[in-house]
Amino acid sequence: MLNRQDIEKFLKTSYFGRYLYIFPELESTNTFARKLIEEGAPEGTVVLADYQSAGKGRFGRSWYSSRAVNILMSLILRPRITVEAIQNITMATANILIDSFHQFLQQVGENDIAFTVKWPNDILVQGKKIAGILVESGVKNKSVEFVIIGMGINVNQDIQELDAGVKDEATSFYTETGRTFSRENLIVQLLYNFERKYIELERSKYEHVIADWKKHCAQIGKDVLVETPLLREAGRFIDVDEQGWPIYQTRDGQVKKLITGRLKTG
Ligand code: BTN
Repeated sequence: MLNRQDIEKFLKTSYFGRYLYIFPELESTNTFARKLIEEGAPEGTVVLADYQSAGKGRFGRSWYSSRAVNILMSLILRPRITVEAIQNITMATANILIDSFHQFLQQVGENDIAFTVKWPNDILVQGKKIAGILVESGVKNKSVEFVIIGMGINVNQDIQELDAGVKDEATSFYTETGRTFSRENLIVQLLYNFERKYIELERSKYEHVIADWKKHCAQIGKDVLVETPLLREAGRFIDVDEQGWPIYQTRDGQVKKLITGRLKTG
């Protein structure tokens, strides 16, 4: 079970994680965070669970995790930003996770791992997913009411324990290094980096977000399959725009932007 004291003792933030909910089991930390928002939970509130009975992934998929080995966390934000800037927060989250992972490995004296990002914010190690992010938001009268950043990070997961459908595509810190790690320490590092970066983001300092994201992305320049509610077509992922939306070139040379939909690397 996650140890509250081990988090609170080392927390270096002023408000991220100061309201901290920890459960042995929840349906989904994102779903619980939404309830807290309705009750007026402040920015920086964090929800953690050791197990989710209905963990949510992107595109209505499920998120699987064994009990008490991974980080299943939702962070509540109430950003004073434009609706368009939510995409920047989505991209920034991937950067924050990768930076935190590198710092954490260094702190614990472990060899570094080469993390890459798959649009918009899947974190991979040699093509296998080590962390997934589900950003949910509420918008009223064109203003952003809340953003929930849900993160699933495979820390001490034995990949063989996952369902057949997902285990070939997943990895964990344990799988990559053969070691188990303190989830609490990684949570402390993540919250510290989130708070620092978030203060910059709220001041509309987005210019580094996309440049940093591109440095982490191994997908640009590769062939992709684009799926939107209206079409399915092959193309080459050539860039992302200043907000983070992918720009791709179709086989017949047209350059297009993807706003709703998904990109699959072939
Ligand atoms: C994805 O890659 O599809 C996103 C996965 C996000 C999973 C996390 S686990 C904590 C939070 N609560 C959820 O129900 N989902 C996110």
